[in-house]
Amino acid sequence: MCGIVGYVGHRDAQEVIIDGLRRMEYRGYDSAGLALVVDGTIEWRKKAGKLANLEAELVEHPIPASHQGVGHTRWATHGGPTDVNAHPHLSADGRVALVHNGIIENFAAIRAELEAEGITFASETDTETAAQLLGREIARSDDLVAAMRAVVARLEGAFTLVAVDAHTPDLVVAARRNSPLVVGVGEGENFLASDVASFIAHTREAIELGQDQIVAITPTSVTVTNFDGSEAETRPFHIDWDLSAAEKGGYDWFMRKEIFEQPQAVADTLLGRIDDDGQLNLDEMRIDQAELRTIDKIIIVACGTAYYAGMVAKYAIEHWTRVPCEVDLASEFRYRDPIITKSTLVVTISQSGETADTLMAIRHSREQHAKVIAICNTNGATIPRESDAVIYTHAGPEIGVASTKGFTTQLIACYLLGLYLAQVRGTKFGDEIASLVAELEQIPAKMEEVLKRSDSVLELARDLIDEQSILFLGRHVGYPAALEGALKLKEIAYLHAEGFAAGELKHGPIALIDEGLPVFIVVPPQGRDQLHDKVISNIQEVRARGARTIVLAEDGDDEAVPYADTLLSLPVVPTLFQPLLAIIPLQLFACEVATLKGYDVDQPRNLAKSVTVE
Ligand code: AGP
Repeated sequence: MCGIVGYVGHRDAQEVIIDGLRRMEYRGYDSAGLALVVDGTIEWRKKAGKLANLEAELVEHPIPASHQGVGHTRWATHGGPTDVNAHPHLSADGRVALVHNGIIENFAAIRAELEAEGITFASETDTETAAQLLGREIARSDDLVAAMRAVVARLEGAFTLVAVDAHTPDLVVAARRNSPLVVGVGEGENFLASDVASFIAHTREAIELGQDQIVAITPTSVTVTNFDGSEAETRPFHIDWDLSAAEKGGYDWFMRKEIFEQPQAVADTLLGRIDDDGQLNLDEMRIDQAELRTIDKIIIVACGTAYYAGMVAKYAIEHWTRVPCEVDLASEFRYRDPIITKSTLVVTISQSGETADTLMAIRHSREQHAKVIAICNTNGATIPRESDAVIYTHAGPEIGVASTKGFTTQLIACYLLGLYLAQVRGTKFGDEIASLVAELEQIPAKMEEVLKRSDSVLELARDLIDEQSILFLGRHVGYPAALEGALKLKEIAYLHAEGFAAGELKHGPIALIDEGLPVFIVVPPQGRDQLHDKVISNIQEVRARGARTIVLAEDGDDEAVPYADTLLSLPVVPTLFQPLLAIIPLQLFACEVATLKGYDVDQPRNLAKSVTVE
């Protein structure tokens, strides 16, 4: 997610904006820029890389003093992290400057319309489309608020837009839909920002904006209207967080914040990839569909949490496409001398896009003439750059070392790829794909429901804080979910935890079961009776030997209840999608145990966010 600052007031706007952007650096970004209104013109500077690059540019090419402007730190989605693609973007005539956070789904059609009118674009971003559209509209209305209203009436997707007009002093205008924006209310000055951290040093009085609203700020006024022009309801509030908490949105850890960001991250990752008729649109991959029809084997390669996402993907992809799908740990892959041909599709999964083991696997695969698709959360990273195609997850920066929204958005990207392959290869009928896609579109709301039930998980963490070992069991896609739950506990609570395929218990691990040993079991939905009933039997087996059972089962699963010392219920979803929900209580449990133990949840010992060495 990008960082946005808008300012108008008595201070030096450049100073306020740079300071505000710096207070949001923790969010992660790959370019930065600002635009200031100076004597009826717009002066702008923008640079790829960190804020220091922008500041050096401002020293080399200073801008005269201004009290009105916008600033931006970009987390690249459409278009790589370059100077040209950095924000702000200006209209062709240089009259308006705009910064943006989010994804404009229908930017291509609007861009074509504007190009047909003779407007020339400088960048490959969806944002510039909004800037050029705003330029056209303000030329017609000569009113920045009216022009913004006309623009948002055309846009589809999730966006926060903040703009200034060279011809209108002392005014900054913004619009938001499904993307963060908050107003900071000062004395003779006002602020707009994606995060209160950017202005908390100047004011703790803020206004929360609602959906589909436009806000206009001057040094002495804040005017909020709905997109349709009607009077809008707003919620003023006082910020009582300290700066550190403000950076985490009021949460104690980035990891906890990112766990709660998962519904939005999943929604953002789905955005723009599903047509109105429920069919998949992954043209962004730019791999010829005829070529995808020649694939006779898929190998998924990743590390850690991303590897567990790949294990889930195997079940889904094989079920939907009937193409054999292998899953490899990247650190093992090339040493096993894998059988790769030009008909092999290698899919790598990486949040950071810089994991050395995974990168080496890509290079090995391409030497063997395989086609490589990267699933990645970091635009312009090495792994997508060295792959033939990429499906970006839109989780936004993941700061916590323990991956959470990275994992669930990787699952979404894997499901999208699997359904797309099924669609292209004709192994699933259109209506079957549409119904599965409809289920995926309900996931954000179901994740929110799971998050609302988190109190029982926090209580469980207090109960189990002194345990020395905890087991996690699952079958089918519940097995990788169990492995991921165990990894979370290991990496942030430093507690021995192990995930098993529930069916493997009787082949050895059941000897571990002792009186009171906590065992989490992910129970599959009841629709798959054979699978469901076998897991119920596994719960009985461990309970009979004294285990304390923590059962994750779907709402209404009455069969699981009698064997659950603790029941963590989940909304009903198709079996293949259950890890999206089941993992949330396991993430929260690990986070809470580590917190209660007094550990640094975001920076656990011995670990790095991106393992760039083999
Ligand atoms: C997960 O919580 C860990 N941080 C780690 O296993 C991580 O998933 C793994 O190192 C792969 O990282 P990547 O997704 O950036 O490639």
